[in-house]
Amino acid sequence: MRDFNEKTITDAVIQRFIGAGDPRVKQVCESLVRHVHDFVRDVRPSYEEWEYAIDFLTRTGQISGPARQEFILLSDTLGVSMLVDAINNPVDGKVTQSTVLGPWFVDDAPVFELGADISGAMRGEPAFVSGKIESEDGSPLAGASVDVWHSDDDGFYDVQQLDKLGGAAGRGRFTTDNEGRYWFWTIKPTRYPVPTDGPVGEMLHGQGRHPWRPAHLHFLIRAPGHRKLVTHIFDSTDPYLDSDAVFGVKDELVRDFAEHPAGVAPDGSRREAPFATIAFDFVVAKQG
Ligand code: BEZ
Ligand code: FE
Repeated sequence: MRDFNEKTITDAVIQRFIGAGDPRVKQVCESLVRHVHDFVRDVRPSYEEWEYAIDFLTRTGQISGPARQEFILLSDTLGVSMLVDAINNPVDGKVTQSTVLGPWFVDDAPVFELGADISGAMRGEPAFVSGKIESEDGSPLAGASVDVWHSDDDGFYDVQQLDKLGGAAGRGRFTTDNEGRYWFWTIKPTRYPVPTDGPVGEMLHGQGRHPWRPAHLHFLIRAPGHRKLVTHIFDSTDPYLDSDAVFGVKDELVRDFAEHPAGVAPDGSRREAPFATIAFDFVVAKQG
């Protein structure tokens, strides 16, 4: 076949996939071509605009590496990551809702005893974080693994400033006790902008958007026989809750940090300075 035009080219391209061995590959490629062609027919780019698009994607790849994944950030800021999350973790009313993993998770975080202080060299207001992990049938999950990580009060994660901090900080892994409980000390995190010094920053600027994420604590919870839960607890006072740059906020994940004067903390320790407390009980789904 030859002489394709604006109308006939789409089916002609899809026709070429007839020999695809894997039906899922065929289905995904067909849908991709239909949507991309419809997009191009809708937008009607000039050659200059098409070249800009190619250059934008090239730079998105070039700036990516082991320490930075601009394509994931692109997916996050276009709402694609949360759409994939919504498809794979439908809300069922019982199980704690999930949200984005983000780029700052580290799979070999330092392991701590319950009650430890994970703030390391980070400075900020002390915060006591506690709660329990339950299965969807209400039973407490003893021995569940709880990873937590968060920014400091300047909005940076430890992995963005390892030279300054001298190692992991605001990050740790715990194992729940016999009643499924976890508790630890850290510092109160703050809001922060997603990285804007690359193509995604250029895109946000072009779209007239801010890059901020509301203050949050990340959690990743693993328990035998249960689905992994990737989620956050958000600070209820944050001004960016309704305009999170990556669309990750869910109402049920928003909590108050209660403020306390110096004195006795919930774990019985005596604090010489004011501190905050926050509590969250997580419910995880059974493996389907
Ligand atoms: C984060 O919460 O760490 C994050 C998530 C998505 C993009 C950038 C940062
Ligand atoms: Fe984060």
